[in-house]
Amino acid sequence: MMRIALVGATGPVAGRALEQVVQSGAQAVALVRHPEKLPEPLRSRVQVEQGTLEDGAFVVRATRGADALLWLTPTTYGVQDFRAYTLDLARNAARALQENRIPRVVFVSSHGADRPDLGQVTFAGEVEKLLEAAAPHTVSLRCAGFMENLLASVDTLKGGQLFTLLPPDKQYPLVATRDVGDVAARWLLDASWSGHHVRGVHGPQDLSANELADILGRVLGGPLRCQRVPAETLRHNFMMRGMSPSVAEAYAQMFRGFGQPDYRPSEPRTAETTTPTTLEAFARERLAPRIRATSSRPGP
Ligand SMILES: NC(=O)c1ccc[n+]([C@@H]2O[C@H](COP(=O)([O-])OP(=O)(O)OC[C@H]3O[C@@H](n4cnc5c(N)ncnc54)[C@H](OP(=O)(O)O)[C@@H]3O)[C@@H](O)[C@H]2O)c1
Repeated sequence: MMRIALVGATGPVAGRALEQVVQSGAQAVALVRHPEKLPEPLRSRVQVEQGTLEDGAFVVRATRGADALLWLTPTTYGVQDFRAYTLDLARNAARALQENRIPRVVFVSSHGADRPDLGQVTFAGEVEKLLEAAAPHTVSLRCAGFMENLLASVDTLKGGQLFTLLPPDKQYPLVATRDVGDVAARWLLDASWSGHHVRGVHGPQDLSANELADILGRVLGGPLRCQRVPAETLRHNFMMRGMSPSVAEAYAQMFRGFGQPDYRPSEPRTAETTTPTTLEAFARERLAPRIRATSSRPGP
């Protein structure tokens, strides 16, 4: 039986991949800090290994005997040096891949990972290289922005506004995390591929923030005004909310870079990189219920 180790399984991407791995009948090993966050029907069908990815010995121990590893850098806000944190974790992954001779790794990366000066996205590019040096077969999933990021904007959406850090007319790919999890699971469960790969995961279509506002306005039942916010404001607001200067700057740098006129993802959109969940479906299923729960706006 295939044995698949996954980190970040209490989060949206690896959580979805975990469901698919379990459904396939493979043995899933979830490396988690808080096992109680795994949904119950799933938890009892998974080998749970409790520990932190900062503990290299834990990562090695927990991934012993794995045929494939799903790796991602979990979102973090407080670390002093975001790049050092990201690379330290990735070195723990690399050590586990080598010591346990794990042949395959699927890494949740981002579009832009091949560029310098994109903050955490550039760090992801460095992680890609560390993993490629440690395992014979690797795929870096260079993902679009996650639709789930909109869940942090429920209050402003309720107020009829969509704030964007990107040029409002420029289109970018946007993907639902469940689609990323599904793509990751397909790579994890397939033992036939070899070598090092980079793949875009792009959602169904590229959208500008203005188009986003139109679609969300239709689904959520009222017009939305799209307004651009400078990356500097984001950096300031993040730090006011307790984010470390290093993490806040990495986010700001990413948005400054994405906002450059010549920026576009290096991976072309193809049938393979196009994934099914539309923004409309995401908004109906995930965003509208949250907005309805707290809103005086009419529901869709
Ligand atoms: N957001 C976007 O638009 C976007 C776009 C492209 C790529 N990405 C990439 O997607 C990745 C994040 O994916 P995601 O949102 O599914 O994951 P996530 O929610 O950020 O993290 C997954 C889980 O990791 C756990 N975790 C946190 N720190 C940990 C540690 N030190 N040791 C062990 N577990 C830890 C957390 O659970 P506990 O706190 O319960 O332990 C969390 O539920 C990032 O690397 C990001 O760069 C994001």
